[in-house]
Amino acid sequence: MNLKDYIASIPDYPAEGVIFRDISPLMGDGAAYREATNRIVTYAREKEVEMVVGPEARGFIIGCPVAYELGIGFAPARKKGKLPRETIEVEYALEYGSAVLTIHKDAIKPGQKVLICDDLLATGGTIAATIKLVEQLGGVVVGCAFLVELDDLKGREKIKDYDILTLMNF
Ligand code: PRP
Ligand code: ADE
Repeated sequence: MNLKDYIASIPDYPAEGVIFRDISPLMGDGAAYREATNRIVTYAREKEVEMVVGPEARGFIIGCPVAYELGIGFAPARKKGKLPRETIEVEYALEYGSAVLTIHKDAIKPGQKVLICDDLLATGGTIAATIKLVEQLGGVVVGCAFLVELDDLKGREKIKDYDILTLMNF
């Protein structure tokens, strides 16, 4: 199965010059969604992952089925103001705009091996912020898994000390 067949490309969305890579056709096809999830699960098993973290919102779509299949927990990293208990936070820049990401203080146990999942690696701002949150809580980031990597934006360079799995490159 060629997973790229399930990514829609929308020019000039949400801003001029950006090509939006939309994963919703992939999620909308049971076989494609399962195939993508299974590839990340195989990687996570190799890394002996103990906890999955995903940044809001599309990181939930990728990370939750991976955690479920592995029988381990999932912790959401959410945009500021969404988590009800004590949090830590990191501000970061996006391909279009900026945001603050937060995580509950008790989301990760010190020393836990963490896989961070998201739909897409663009500038790397989101994954770098999520890594900071996990590490501030004492977690060990053993891998970062994405469906899509946008090569031109060089996000990989921002996280070059970490192991990365991407299923598709554009
Ligand atoms: C998108 C995407 C990644 C991030 C990638 O999320 O889901 O998380 O941007 O970009 P980066 O590598 O330049 O940080 P967005 O912040 O648009 O939020 P959403 O998932 O809620 O749509
Ligand atoms: N997040 C950041 N850049 C993106 C893009 N080009 N397409 C989809 N999601 C994104």
